[in-house]
Amino acid sequence: MAKRVRIEPIAQVADIATNGALLSGLMGDELNILKECGGRGMCATCHVYIQDGMSSLSPMGKREQRTLEVITTCKPNSRLACQAKVMGEGIVVELPVGMYVQSIQDIEASPIQG
Ligand code: FES
Repeated sequence: MAKRVRIEPIAQVADIATNGALLSGLMGDELNILKECGGRGMCATCHVYIQDGMSSLSPMGKREQRTLEVITTCKPNSRLACQAKVMGEGIVVELPVGMYVQSIQDIEASPIQG
């Protein structure tokens, strides 16, 4: 069964298969996620913050931990969307500022801009 994940600040929702990578819900037309390493947890171009529901994601593995350690924008709620698997409900993803959102309409539609 799919789990519903909210994506902020663009106020979108994605239904992701249980045990599916968070990344699969971030592949909409408006989001440009580079996936430089092909989803192997090595490049951090799929870095996101988890606003809520961290316990509904799979635990962090060693590779993800090592990759996050070297990026300067890493916070305690950082995850790599290609490595974090959706296990439960209540997940709210926050896209890092300046990443992924390409069109001005997305930014203008954002509730934090109002
Ligand atoms: S796509 Fe490279 S770390 Fe996720």
